[in-house]
Amino acid sequence: MSVVCTGIIMIQKSNLEKNILITGGAGFIGSHTCVELLQKGYHVIVVDNLVNSSAEALKRVEEITGKKVTFYKGSLLDKEFLENVFQSELFHYVIHFAGLKAVGESALKPLEYYQNNLTGSFVLLEVMRKYKVKNLIFSSSATVYGKPNTLPITEDFPVGCVTNPYGRTKFFLEEIFRDIYNADQEWNIILLRYFNPIGAHESGLIGENPNGIPNNLLPYVARVAVGTYPYIRIYGNNYNTPDGTGVRDYIHVVDLAKGHVKALEKMEKDVDSRNGIMRIYNLGTGIGYSVFDIIRAFSKICGRRLPYRVEERRAGDIDVCYADTTKAQQELGWKAEFDLERMCKDTYRWQVMNPNGYVK
Ligand code: NAD
Ligand code: UD1
Repeated sequence: MSVVCTGIIMIQKSNLEKNILITGGAGFIGSHTCVELLQKGYHVIVVDNLVNSSAEALKRVEEITGKKVTFYKGSLLDKEFLENVFQSELFHYVIHFAGLKAVGESALKPLEYYQNNLTGSFVLLEVMRKYKVKNLIFSSSATVYGKPNTLPITEDFPVGCVTNPYGRTKFFLEEIFRDIYNADQEWNIILLRYFNPIGAHESGLIGENPNGIPNNLLPYVARVAVGTYPYIRIYGNNYNTPDGTGVRDYIHVVDLAKGHVKALEKMEKDVDSRNGIMRIYNLGTGIGYSVFDIIRAFSKICGRRLPYRVEERRAGDIDVCYADTTKAQQELGWKAEFDLERMCKDTYRWQVMNPNGYVK
């Protein structure tokens, strides 16, 4: 990995057409996307301040792919730093993952979330505009749909009824990107609304590494499986679902990463046709699984019945959420391939191989 101090070391520029800036590329989804892009021959340049990740993830991306990652350590909030990156590299496309993402924390620190996620994106957009890099793929979330009236969820469902500051940063940014596109149709923007990303690369070298006690179900279940925590806490069994527990559309992170490659290929065609366009896609499997489904599937993989206790509902949780993925299938030629067993298997392998995350 070449770690670059801007302004000090000049690095050789690679194929102009294939230089992709990945903000937040050291994180969970970003690192898996780097693998898929490198394997397709793209050159990835990562900007990340490592606030929720480790440079070790990028070394492992290099180990998996046998290819180099160029890494600039710094924050999107630092405009001078970001300008230096744009002066040192020639980008055509930006995939923007960088952001804070813990729902509970966002309710306690709304200002920090708005500052980081909104201002960080504003700085990125300003610099992109200045350097005439107007091709952006953005990590949005199914959280923008709030509680849907019907299922499955299509991209034209109403958005904005979100219950926490994190979710609102996604909704606000979607609206802001729309305004930017409406004002200047040289922009190509694709919003990818992820459902529930889980799993890990099959090598077991990269995976999800939450700080502290995991907020999301799968990382918590994985830690119960390896004995870090004694039992799974089920947040309510009185939802309007077949077994009473919440139902979600879990998607393997490698499928999700491949969805970004397909989105990028779509954008390359849009750029070739010289028509700026804004597109939105759901990235999910279209299948809903309950918390009990997950516990059963994971128990089968780790070879023992995982203990659980039913507790109170968690504020802000909804009954059911799953995607209609027809649009991504038809327009991107993308469909998730990995099933729940594979998602659990890869999550478990990552957890067993890396009980302390990226800390050796
Ligand atoms: P992650 O925390 O693993 O990755 C985010 C990365 O952004 C981290 O490496 C972090 O260090 C970096 N970062 C944060 N603020 C930064 C800043 N100001 N400057 C530079 N780097 C910064 O999270 P993830 O799960 O990989 O999520 C990636 C994106 O996808 C996020 O925008 C997240 O909100 C979105 N998303 C995630 C999920 C999910 O369940 N994981 C679901 C929907 C949407
Ligand atoms: C959560 C966030 C969402 C965010 C997404 C990805 C909330 C309310 N929603 O989605 O905004 O985009 O993560 O980061 O936080 N569950 C348990 N026990 C646990 C954890 C979860 O029973 O320890 C249940 C939940 O009630 C839910 C399901 O498992 O029914 C999935 O929860 P989780 O993994 O946190 O994802 P979401 O709530 O869908």
